[in-house]
Amino acid sequence: MEEKVKAIQQEVEAFLVKSKEDLETFRLRFISKKGLVPTLFDDLKAALPEEKKKLGKVLNDLKQLAEGKFKTWQEELENGAATTATDIDLSLPVIPNKTGNLHPLTLTRYRIIEIFERLGFNVSDGPEVEDDWHNFSALNFPPNHPAREMQDTFFVEKSGAEGSDVLLRTHTSNVQIRLMEKQKPPIRSIMPGRVYRNEAISARAHCFFHQVEGLYVDRNVSFRDLKQTLYHFAKEMFGQDTKIRLRPSFFPFTEPSAEIDISCLICHGKGCNVCKYSGWVEIAGSGMVHPNVLRHVNIDPEEFTGFAFGMGIERITMLRYGVNDLRLYSENDLRFLKQFKVVIG
Ligand code: DAH
Repeated sequence: MEEKVKAIQQEVEAFLVKSKEDLETFRLRFISKKGLVPTLFDDLKAALPEEKKKLGKVLNDLKQLAEGKFKTWQEELENGAATTATDIDLSLPVIPNKTGNLHPLTLTRYRIIEIFERLGFNVSDGPEVEDDWHNFSALNFPPNHPAREMQDTFFVEKSGAEGSDVLLRTHTSNVQIRLMEKQKPPIRSIMPGRVYRNEAISARAHCFFHQVEGLYVDRNVSFRDLKQTLYHFAKEMFGQDTKIRLRPSFFPFTEPSAEIDISCLICHGKGCNVCKYSGWVEIAGSGMVHPNVLRHVNIDPEEFTGFAFGMGIERITMLRYGVNDLRLYSENDLRFLKQFKVVIG
């Protein structure tokens, strides 16, 4: 009888199940009522008393082995898993690994930082929930001045006391003040971040967007430095044959102020609907830091001068990639986002 048990055990061990039919064959042959293993238990009754104990244990082990295998295969087949290693077909094509990619605004931010870092600018950060002082008053916006209305503000808390209303910053220029409060010249920094304005959402306006602020304060910083820095930036960002043009403008925190245009990338100056047939597109506001701003942070305007600029990351991204609707940046539509895959290395 011992030999019979051994033979059946070997058969159980060698059995392969790949389908539900195989499993049923296994069940009928080994573990069903009339199967081989239960019949062995019947045989056991006829065995000699001294053999019974030993054989009983061997039989129980075999029963457990067969039932264990049955259960595992049953679960595997139900879960649709491959039953054995031999079922894996290594010649099949691999399932593509869907990796994510960086958001186009992130790509542009990284590129801007890269360009300015090579000119010796570091990167600074500041709060998005800000007080009136850092967002307006310290930047030389007088109380009730119409310039405040240029930027429709989201207020968080209106206290009424001068400079202390709490609001969502309307531009990244607040970081200029935060930086100069804690660091004295020389300062050469760029400040990327999110800003908020109370605007109806459309293809051309949004209630939040991103800017990069730039600030350079030291002895003898002049308008020439401003112009050359932004010219260099424009060529690095948009190509070496890009031209720039400065137009006189007004910002409370700079004097003189200028808006920076670049030659239109689409029509190269001939005129198209991106540049509204002017041949030029605006990319930034800029100017020499107003003496009042320096005074507000205890920097002596007789000793130090500086330039500042601010640009919209959405706008630069739009020009880089031809995006024509601001809403695309925040809708998270994968069909839009996956177009900006960059191969690194
Ligand atoms: N803060 C301005 C805006 O949001 C942009 C700007 C203009 C920033 C001139 C500057 C600057 O630093 O010098 O429209």
